[in-house]
Amino acid sequence: MIEGANQQLAILGASGHGKVVADLAEQLGYIVHFYDDAYPAKQNVEHWSILGTFEDLLERGVNNNKAIVAIGNNNIREEKLTILKRYGFNLPILLHPSAIVSSYAELLGGGTVVFANSVVNAFARIGQGCIINSSCVVEHDCVIGSFVHICPKSVLAGGVHIGHRSVLGIGSQVKQLIFIGQDTFVGAGSTVSKNLSANVVAYGSPAVVVGDNYF
Ligand SMILES: CC(C)(COP(=O)(O)OP(=O)(O)OC[C@H]1O[C@@H](n2cnc3c(N)ncnc32)[C@H](O)[C@@H]1OP(=O)(O)O)[C@@H](O)C(=O)NCCC(=O)NCCS
Repeated sequence: MIEGANQQLAILGASGHGKVVADLAEQLGYIVHFYDDAYPAKQNVEHWSILGTFEDLLERGVNNNKAIVAIGNNNIREEKLTILKRYGFNLPILLHPSAIVSSYAELLGGGTVVFANSVVNAFARIGQGCIINSSCVVEHDCVIGSFVHICPKSVLAGGVHIGHRSVLGIGSQVKQLIFIGQDTFVGAGSTVSKNLSANVVAYGSPAVVVGDNYF
């Protein structure tokens, strides 16, 4: 049976990321319903209607109470997902049909999306609420915290650790066994060859810390 056949899925966040999540959810058979705090000023995203605000979603729910937070900002995604869980929502993991996730990999919590052409290899562990964006490689034994965003075309070699809420910018590469602390932002196109502490911004090849995380 198709994963989401005949099931409704509320999507919180009618942004560009929300549209990609909706497209994926529909490919998996879900019927999507958008919610966004810009409602009622914003009533549509592309051809989809926005049905209400986050508060409306909490009040009304959807059948099966399935929801996903499609907000790119890691802190806000964590905040909203935590509230949804408290309200008893069921937070599925969405895997694009072209993504390859090893049966030995562990996706540890709800609300994670793995987009097209990504590979999650054996014994990798990924926390809740993560975005593994298009065409990423998360190699064997990587440990990814919760609410992390791995931007498109990033490659993590074996045994890399990434702390909660960190961002790996588009097209980044991380050498094997590197530790990146939580709430750290790695800029686009970087090569991380040394450990990075928590709460910093770093970029370049090799990536150099330029300051505290201001995002
Ligand atoms: C690292 C980053 C967060 C810094 O943002 P910022 O603080 O606004 O930085 P600025 O754009 O003001 O750039 C400051 C300087 O750093 C340089 N710089 C910024 N990001 C860089 C990067 N990733 N690699 C190399 N140099 C970079 C800029 O060229 C600029 O140099 P200059 O002072 O010589 O002109 C941002 O540039 C970035 O890489 N974001 C990730 C984007 C991404 O991956 N998006 C995908 C979403 S799915």
